[in-house]
Amino acid sequence: MSGTVIIGAGQAGVQTAVELRAAGYSGPVTLLGAEQALPYHRPPLSKAYLTGEKGTDALLMRGPSFYSEQAIALHQGAEVTAIDHAAKSVTTAAGQRFGYDHLVLATGASARPLGCPGADLDGVMVLRSRADSEALKLRLEAAGRLVVVGGGFIGLEVAASARKLGKQVTVLEMQDRLMARAVGSDVSAFFAGVHRDHGVDLRLGDGIAAIAGRNGAVSGVHTTRGAELACDIVLAGIGVSPRTQLAEAAGLGIANGIVVDAAQRTSDPHIFALGDCASFPNPHGSGMIRLESVQNAVDQARIVAAGIIGDAARYQAVPWFWSDQYDLKLQMVGLSHGHDHVEARGNRAESRFSVFYFRAGRLVAIDSINRPADHMRGRKLLAAGAAPITPSDIDTHFAARRE
Ligand code: APR
Repeated sequence: MSGTVIIGAGQAGVQTAVELRAAGYSGPVTLLGAEQALPYHRPPLSKAYLTGEKGTDALLMRGPSFYSEQAIALHQGAEVTAIDHAAKSVTTAAGQRFGYDHLVLATGASARPLGCPGADLDGVMVLRSRADSEALKLRLEAAGRLVVVGGGFIGLEVAASARKLGKQVTVLEMQDRLMARAVGSDVSAFFAGVHRDHGVDLRLGDGIAAIAGRNGAVSGVHTTRGAELACDIVLAGIGVSPRTQLAEAAGLGIANGIVVDAAQRTSDPHIFALGDCASFPNPHGSGMIRLESVQNAVDQARIVAAGIIGDAARYQAVPWFWSDQYDLKLQMVGLSHGHDHVEARGNRAESRFSVFYFRAGRLVAIDSINRPADHMRGRKLLAAGAAPITPSDIDTHFAARRE
């Protein structure tokens, strides 16, 4: 028996190995990670790890002995370069070959690089890996001025961390509001105010046109609206692209990610994909979606493990996300796209409120700011199969938390 080979030792890959053992799988489990570091949590990289409040040990997903204790063969620094699905094997850059009965693609996503002139200057950075965070931290120690491109989670979390460290921060967001992909416009406006109150020079509707350099290093940026800003670092937080190259070369179906069915199976029944790299049927709407979140990786890992041991399981989890900026905990549950009605509850002046989104009279998502009870309740209520919640139900379901 060749067992299961998992490509990628991020949240999705590690969790799949853990779930396989938890489900009683007794075959060999091989976990191949391109990075040298022991598998680590990514969320702190833009927050407490960047500010120095958390060290390397706090990032580890599992202690060093966990993998051998669980009979998970973890190979660090093992970059897979090819999948031979006819022979059911994968090959690494170092020339190692691993045969499989089941293959799991947990290849994640990579940060989109800037494409403007000057993007190759020293001091233009992205934040995806632990090494990226360490490099940014080191530069921030010496730098005074940072320009963040992109007002999504990464950009705003880095902006908040850099303000904590006393740096001058400008955020360029080409859309007219922050975190437009994830939250409603009310919440975007609230966070714009928060960042400005913390001294961030926030420029909405502005992007980067070019980066200026001196002796090969960043000296400033030109924005699309014509502003010239001096800075020492440019951090690009302009989204990620799913890593699909291996799957594509192996002839698997690709469309905004590796295409899988509700059981996380690709177009090859022996190959599964999950997490940031996988595009799956939306259980709460129509069409295919791809989600970039810890929740999605963890919940899909359970489905993959069930599939490998021969249980039928379908992915139906309600999506949830979080972001920490300054002393604010932003928690999101459900997908608010296409909502047609909004209700808000709580106290905005005290930075404690929730926004409830409805589509066709039915609750589809909640954004909560420092209201974890609303978020947790929402996760329960929105769980697949729960009865629809209408606007007039809000005060019944969330009454205890009303202010
Ligand atoms: N200039 C200015 N803004 C831009 C540009 C540009 N050239 N290109 C894109 N943007 C903006 C987008 O409008 C968007 O608001 O950058 C933002 C990117 O936000 P996200 O797509 O959420 O991506 P990012 O913040 O990079 O996070 C990537 O990492 O931690 C995870 O959950 C996070 O899944 C997310 C991923």
